[in-house]
Amino acid sequence: MSAVSIRVTVNGTPYERQVEPRTHLADFLRHDLGLTGTHLGCEHGVCGACSLLVDGRAVRGCLMLAVQADGAEVVTVEGLASAAGLSPLQEAFREFHALQCGFCTPGMLTTLVQLLEDHPEPTEAMLREELSGNLCRCTGYAGIIRAALKAAPLMKAQKETAA
Ligand code: FES
Ligand code: FES
Repeated sequence: MSAVSIRVTVNGTPYERQVEPRTHLADFLRHDLGLTGTHLGCEHGVCGACSLLVDGRAVRGCLMLAVQADGAEVVTVEGLASAAGLSPLQEAFREFHALQCGFCTPGMLTTLVQLLEDHPEPTEAMLREELSGNLCRCTGYAGIIRAALKAAPLMKAQKETAA
């Protein structure tokens, strides 16, 4: 299959690469760009481990082709922290022990970034419902929910300050 040229911005850095049309976005990020923070579990849209942000929306990197990201802004877990340190959500994950093995964590974080952007004042029930598509085998979700509830007002305040 002949390669296709794509341009994509990942975590603020522009890239131009040749990719095979069949390459999915998660493999492109991991193998072509070396961004192995995006994890692959089921590779068919069920576990959510590969979740990342494309133009601000959480998508499954195993269900999107790299060629479909041509022209898009992609943010992976590697792009969530800033020069100032971890994001409030990442800090809250650390505080509430919201991870054990960490395999689900990149997908949890990127999913929550969009969720808390859309719903700055989430309820526990909403978080549990929305995160049901991201599987975690270790934590029982309690720490993840607590972390999201702690981070939500901090992220809201951060956004208002930046506006
Ligand atoms: Fe993509 Fe499981 S690896 S949803
Ligand atoms: Fe291990 Fe979630 S921390 S799967």
